[in-house]
Amino acid sequence: MTDVGLAAGAPARADPIDPTLLPRTAAVDANGRLSIGGVDCEALADEFGTPLYVYDEDDLRARCREYAAGFPDGVAYAAKAFVCGAMAQLVVEEGLDLDVASVGELHLALSAGTPPSRITMHGNNKTEAELRMGLNVGVGRIVVDSHDELDRLAVIAAQGAGGSTLLVRVNPGVDAHTHEYLATGVLDAKFGFPLADGEALTAVRRILDLDATRFGGLHCHIGSQIFGREAFDAALERLVGLVAEIEHLGVDVPELNLGGGLGVRYTLADDAPTIARHAAWLHESLGGALAASGVRSRPRLTTEPGRSIAAPPGVTLYRVGTIKVIRGVRTYVSVDGGLSDNPRPALYGAEYETFVPTRAAARRTRAVTIAGAHCEQGDLLVREAAVPAELAVGDLLCLPVTGAYGHSMASNYNAFLRPAVVFVRAGRARVVVRRETIDDLLARDLCKTGSR
Ligand code: LLP
Repeated sequence: MTDVGLAAGAPARADPIDPTLLPRTAAVDANGRLSIGGVDCEALADEFGTPLYVYDEDDLRARCREYAAGFPDGVAYAAKAFVCGAMAQLVVEEGLDLDVASVGELHLALSAGTPPSRITMHGNNKTEAELRMGLNVGVGRIVVDSHDELDRLAVIAAQGAGGSTLLVRVNPGVDAHTHEYLATGVLDAKFGFPLADGEALTAVRRILDLDATRFGGLHCHIGSQIFGREAFDAALERLVGLVAEIEHLGVDVPELNLGGGLGVRYTLADDAPTIARHAAWLHESLGGALAASGVRSRPRLTTEPGRSIAAPPGVTLYRVGTIKVIRGVRTYVSVDGGLSDNPRPALYGAEYETFVPTRAAARRTRAVTIAGAHCEQGDLLVREAAVPAELAVGDLLCLPVTGAYGHSMASNYNAFLRPAVVFVRAGRARVVVRRETIDDLLARDLCKTGSR
């Protein structure tokens, strides 16, 4: 197919994919073929089908280690970014704890053998049953999000269940300048106890009244995909102000958990600090804020990253099925997945790069739109994609930096089957989540009278 009538014609940049956007062990051989973890991408697609989530296990582990080194007082990986049994095991092996935000994530963590003491429970609407389960299995911490939750905890505590440490989720009233849906630390947010009107301090008092030995400190999570340090600094400063108020109640604050939020580079336009730099900034800012405030507490600084561990090591492989040239308008390249395996472009206008992994060194001189296969015009994975001129039906396409909030936010929209997840390392691939089957899809439907 020729490029007749292409609106954009050539993309803004025609360079081959930039290697810094690829997982750490990605390598392009003399024939331009991409391998990750020593495994050829087309071989992966042929063996396991597409769409396929592929994770560079060495890269995942390296990022966990960077966090462990940068935050020696504690890191809990945020399972919501990407979790399965293998991932839960990997992060625990690398010395990290696990943060779960639902009873489903809690079950996943436990079934993978995560020690309950290394699990932190989150959620802005934990039910009594969920809290009871967390306490009964002995989760290490529960991050308390509301007065209603404290009411429920008081009832359960009166019945003598579990002794998990309780942290207070504080809403510091800080704008992290990220996508509106990802900003969680502004006053108008559903998470945590506002600092501004004294509710956070009231929550601390209530925990101290419940059982002072269980007060573990303060938590805040101001948002996600954040590049700068200013919003984190502002949050830390405000939390330290609250530490001073808590000290007036006669207790020290053992821990400040700053949540997650470090951004990643999805495209060359993004400029994200390294994990080490981010860690150094936060330690420096906390040191400064503690010194300036004169508090006596020396809280541990802990963190809860998701995206910055899971996103860069992951890529998604798709197969091109249809190329439609709309003369004078645009070329749509449709692949066999879409918003069911990656809702981020449709939800947040997220931008990605793409390239052909069998021709990874090729210049990408053709401007197209990569469309998903769902019944929505908004199901566009990459709007201004640069691809090699000779892109053809049957080619593989790779979207890098898709390891976070893709698999975990995947759906069965249009009754699509959710893709498999493969970990690659040292020349070997292992399926850690199998592809969904039609039987999986029909399993919950209780009204079947047809021929299947
Ligand atoms: N801790 C808490 C309490 C959180 O709510 C989150 C993310 C994290 C930690 C991890 O944040 P991260 O390091 O991944 O930024 N679906 C959106 C992201 C939602 C983030 C929700 N909370 C996306 O695809 O961009």
